[in-house]
Amino acid sequence: MDCKGHEAEGLLKDEDLEINTSDDSECPNCSPRSSKRLTLRIIMIHISVAALYLIVITAWLKATLPARLPNLIYVPARDALQYQVTEMYTREDNPNPFMGMTDASDEAWHSLMEHTNFRLTDENLQRLNRTSVALGSGGYLGMPTVFHELHCLKMIRWSSNLTRYGHWFGVRDHEELQTHVDHCMDVVRQSIMCRADMSPMTFYWTLKSRVPETDFAADHECVDWTKVEQWLEERRVDIYGEGELNHPVYGASYPNGHRLIEDWDVPKKLPFVPLPTSQRLKV
Ligand SMILES: *[C@@H]1O[C@H](CO)[C@@H](O)[C@H](O)[C@H]1NC(C)=O
Ligand SMILES: *[C@@H]1O[C@H](CO)[C@@H](O)[C@H](O)[C@H]1NC(C)=O
Repeated sequence: MDCKGHEAEGLLKDEDLEINTSDDSECPNCSPRSSKRLTLRIIMIHISVAALYLIVITAWLKATLPARLPNLIYVPARDALQYQVTEMYTREDNPNPFMGMTDASDEAWHSLMEHTNFRLTDENLQRLNRTSVALGSGGYLGMPTVFHELHCLKMIRWSSNLTRYGHWFGVRDHEELQTHVDHCMDVVRQSIMCRADMSPMTFYWTLKSRVPETDFAADHECVDWTKVEQWLEERRVDIYGEGELNHPVYGASYPNGHRLIEDWDVPKKLPFVPLPTSQRLKV
């Protein structure tokens, strides 16, 4: 600080001298004007130093803060989205828990979908300019779009092996399977194009083929999924929970924690289930 102050002073003195000499020669009675000019110069130097600090601090913040996507729309989880360099497991010889059709991979998919539903607040809805379904335990039901996309991929996965997953679809699901899967594939297509991951893949020659092989390895800009799950965990909603969801006409949405199969029929009217007293928020 001190050092900078002295430097600025030194600068001023030199220029001050210059002004005085020129003023003296041209107009000897002009010293109040030259002191005004001096004040102006001091102000200018302060502004320049402040601007310099601003530029340095902005550059430093840009370099240290986690990268984010452009802020074009309001997204309640914006602060939880942090981008990092991620290597995706895209080699065929690099299996992961979600691959294959085994009990273990089914379990991996099941766990992945556990954060599908989250609680929106009044403020969230106001800023979104939207409404949603009220939850028994307070707030409103929300689902991040990424979970609709994952749900869609799960449906495509199930439909690729009806021997294994056929009985997991309801009657109505079976009748609409083709339409549903078609819708789901299109959701995934739009989502992939929306993100437009342009990190380039490269190619190489092998002696076993005339055409180049693709090198799938590439660095990608991906969200830190752990942070996404942490954010959702704090707002987690169990839609199957007692008293959480009631249709205003048909009553409990998931009576006794289950989805009723009422394919094609207008639902029966069931009692409205209140939230158990023990789970009410203490205000
Ligand atoms: C909010 O939504 C309503 C109804 O969809 C619309 O008429 C209104 O223009 C929206 N307001 C803003 C600020 O976007
Ligand atoms: C489909 O499911 C059956 C039954 O679980 C299994 O034996 C078969 O390997 C699966 N097919 C594929 C392509 O994974």
